[in-house]
Amino acid sequence: MGRKKIIAGNWKMNKTPEESRQLAMQLVAEIGGFNACDIVVCPTYTGLEAVRNAIAGATNIHLGAQNLHQEKNGAFTGEISASMLVGTGCTYVIIGHSERRQYFGENDALVNQKTKSALAAGLKPIVCVGETLDVRESGGTEKLVREQVRQGLAGLTEAQLASTVLAYEPVWAIGTGKVATPAQAQEVHLWIRSELAACFGEAVATGFRIQYGGSVKSDNAAELLNQPDIDGALVGGASLDAAGFAAIIKKGCA
Ligand code: PGA
Repeated sequence: MGRKKIIAGNWKMNKTPEESRQLAMQLVAEIGGFNACDIVVCPTYTGLEAVRNAIAGATNIHLGAQNLHQEKNGAFTGEISASMLVGTGCTYVIIGHSERRQYFGENDALVNQKTKSALAAGLKPIVCVGETLDVRESGGTEKLVREQVRQGLAGLTEAQLASTVLAYEPVWAIGTGKVATPAQAQEVHLWIRSELAACFGEAVATGFRIQYGGSVKSDNAAELLNQPDIDGALVGGASLDAAGFAAIIKKGCA
């Protein structure tokens, strides 16, 4: 059986709880019965509960968070742990998004700790990797992305790897409207899969779901998701509009 596609919406720091509830209700109306792929919505922490309630009847739509702290609990003011996310109805969590790496100093070692904490609590991590424009222009993309994959997923068991998703998001394509060409994205996805094979074996690599992210819209989704190694999308800006996000899902998973 092929890999089931997975499309996630990262709402970033947008929408109050009430606005989140409304967007989730609209999504349920648009794609509540669409089962061709897994759908994940990732509101802010404060929007999680409202969205959980709004999607309760739609078994195809899953709840995810945008981040977590690596420790189980303790004196970490302002932070949220894996078990708190599970208790709020999350089944997924985004880890190591480039904005976390860029603005909050997250590195591969921390991404690895967070990934392990998420898995230990039963969450499915969506681990983000991707190069900046400088790295791409100096020809360093393959080396960097392989390193991010190897370090980010180091030490995971086969069962844990089966619950993990990767998202390749070239930093220069996030929120810029500059989407990677399908060929550029496919090339990196293949490197990632070959790194997975080298680290964990062919079976793990073949089953692993790798999303593309960075300016995915309804008019480029189909072309990107038709590439053989692109198994879904992590969508930022375009996931804030229910009709637009639904169109991405329907076109990307037709
Ligand atoms: P974008 O963001 O779709 O707005 O480019 C993608 C992401 O950051 O996950």
